[in-house]
Amino acid sequence: MVRVARAPCGNVRSVTIPTLTTNRLILRPIHNDDVSAYLSIWSDPEFTRYIGGSSTPSRDGIWHAMAGNIGCWALTGVGPWTVIEQVTDDVVGRAGLWDEPDWPGVEAVWFIGRRWWGRGYATEAATAAINWVFDIRPELGQVVSTIAPANTPSIRVAERLGMTLARTEFLHGSDHHVYAISRDEWVARRSQDRTA
Ligand SMILES: CC(C)(COP(=O)(O)OP(=O)(O)OC[C@H]1O[C@@H](n2cnc3c(N)ncnc32)[C@H](O)[C@@H]1OP(=O)(O)O)[C@@H](O)C(=O)NCCC(=O)NCCS
Repeated sequence: MVRVARAPCGNVRSVTIPTLTTNRLILRPIHNDDVSAYLSIWSDPEFTRYIGGSSTPSRDGIWHAMAGNIGCWALTGVGPWTVIEQVTDDVVGRAGLWDEPDWPGVEAVWFIGRRWWGRGYATEAATAAINWVFDIRPELGQVVSTIAPANTPSIRVAERLGMTLARTEFLHGSDHHVYAISRDEWVARRSQDRTA
């Protein structure tokens, strides 16, 4: 657990970032010493192919991105986690939630390092994050995911989660597919899984 202290003024809230455990993964708060693991994952051009990675990332750029992720927790009460593989204790990526102003909705996000692709880790981590956010935000009607149209692996993750293509929007300088799943659809899938 990481506790973000209440600021004396402004909109920063006191938030305790939880740790979530799935069958094979742990989603834990981002730590300062995750920089090297993230740098290694984000330095792979195949990994950054659809997420705007034209230049090699730097340690300070990675750290600033981590600080931005923690900032999302402090400003909105939700955010991304570092994803740990239980059997090895390796950092395998980052996944969770994003709640930016004027965004298509509360977004589920997923980034898994290339070494660990194709094992279902993104789907498993996102499932835990979506369960969690629907539980803690009873007013939330849907969760979205914004994906570059060419990013087939990410579209497969969205489809595996039961999301469907709602529309295409121009976001952060380029067209993105907006995939979405409503609370009702999510709950129905959860109860189907339980009875399967
Ligand atoms: C997208 C990403 C998170 C998928 O992670 P993952 O852990 O491999 O995903 P899963 O194992 O849950 O698999 C999801 C689907 O993608 C498929 N997939 C995985 N890697 C793939 C690849 N390189 N090419 C095509 N399909 C791929 C899987 O086979 C699976 O499809 P299936 O249901 O038809 O079998 C990962 O590729 C990634 O982090 N990419 C770089 C960052 C990124 O683009 N993030 C998403 C931003 S919107």
